[in-house]
Amino acid sequence: MGVLSGKTIVLGVSGGIAAYKSAELVRLLVNAGANVRVMMTRNATEFITPLTLQTLSSNPVATDTFSLTQESEIGHIRLADTAEVIVIAPATADVIAKAAVGIADDILTTVLLATRAKVAFAPAMNVHMYEHPTVAENLAKLRTRGAVIIEPGEGALACGYEGKGRLPDPAIVVAEIEKMLSAQDLGGENILVTAGPTQEPIDPVRFVTNRSSGKMGFAIARAAWRRGAAVRIVAGPSALATPYGVERIDTVTASAMLAKTSSSFPWSTALVMAAAVADFRPANPARGKIKKDTRGLRLEMESIAD
Ligand SMILES: Cc1cc2nc3c(=O)[nH]c(=O)nc-3n(C[C@H](O)[C@H](O)[C@H](O)COP(=O)(O)O)c2cc1C
Repeated sequence: MGVLSGKTIVLGVSGGIAAYKSAELVRLLVNAGANVRVMMTRNATEFITPLTLQTLSSNPVATDTFSLTQESEIGHIRLADTAEVIVIAPATADVIAKAAVGIADDILTTVLLATRAKVAFAPAMNVHMYEHPTVAENLAKLRTRGAVIIEPGEGALACGYEGKGRLPDPAIVVAEIEKMLSAQDLGGENILVTAGPTQEPIDPVRFVTNRSSGKMGFAIARAAWRRGAAVRIVAGPSALATPYGVERIDTVTASAMLAKTSSSFPWSTALVMAAAVADFRPANPARGKIKKDTRGLRLEMESIAD
């Protein structure tokens, strides 16, 4: 069972262009087994409809503090109390400022003041807005009070500018929520993980390998990061995406994996060796491609441990 299974996550959506990405975020959270309650600022409803988020979350969406039906059916205090984590994604400069000074003039900001749950903000805005000293000061204030600030990504922004301010991929927001729900019992540890297969060359284009996918090592790395460790993976050729927050060093052969692991070893406080390192390799790999019309091919293998 995943970390999010059965957990109540309150998602606050504010009025930025990235509000459309909240639909994907709700879907990922629901698929991971979370009970998702969405609250939106009035301006957020200009960007994405409550109906979309209500349908995806299978729960009523709160948009109005003073609606008679919403207050009796959802209730701002109930939302604040039932949340195990509240995540504001996207968080506008406006909502960040209100949260920093304690303004509670709509459902989202009122719930933020009324809750004892852990809160995360995923700022998303134009790069000049994000770099404005006021926004930086407000974020620093929220961070000091214990809120998690999910760093925006860099790249082309919807407003036409390039720079920092993109809402991170919804999968990253989910990873941050999972971390908030996990005991940080590996905080301060530096965990080195080896993962995946190795490839041992026969010639420059052919190799001997095994069927390791890297799934085990990558899952260990992901879990260690979630529990607060700094994590580095030394990976053989694996098609898997690098887990969020994890540093990845790619290698190909067993000897390269040994070299990279050895050089990271002094950094580590624990080493988990989940890679499927080859036991044998061709003793004399050819320098050039072995011609296909070579009659039969006899490979001499040597033990790698020797
Ligand atoms: C098309 C459009 C896109 C906007 N995108 C953003 C944005 O990405 N981030 C942001 O902080 N504000 C953005 N704004 C400005 C906010 O909508 C505005 O500050 C609003 O008051 C925020 O209200 P809320 O924080 O209550 O949702 C945008 C406005 C418009 C018209």
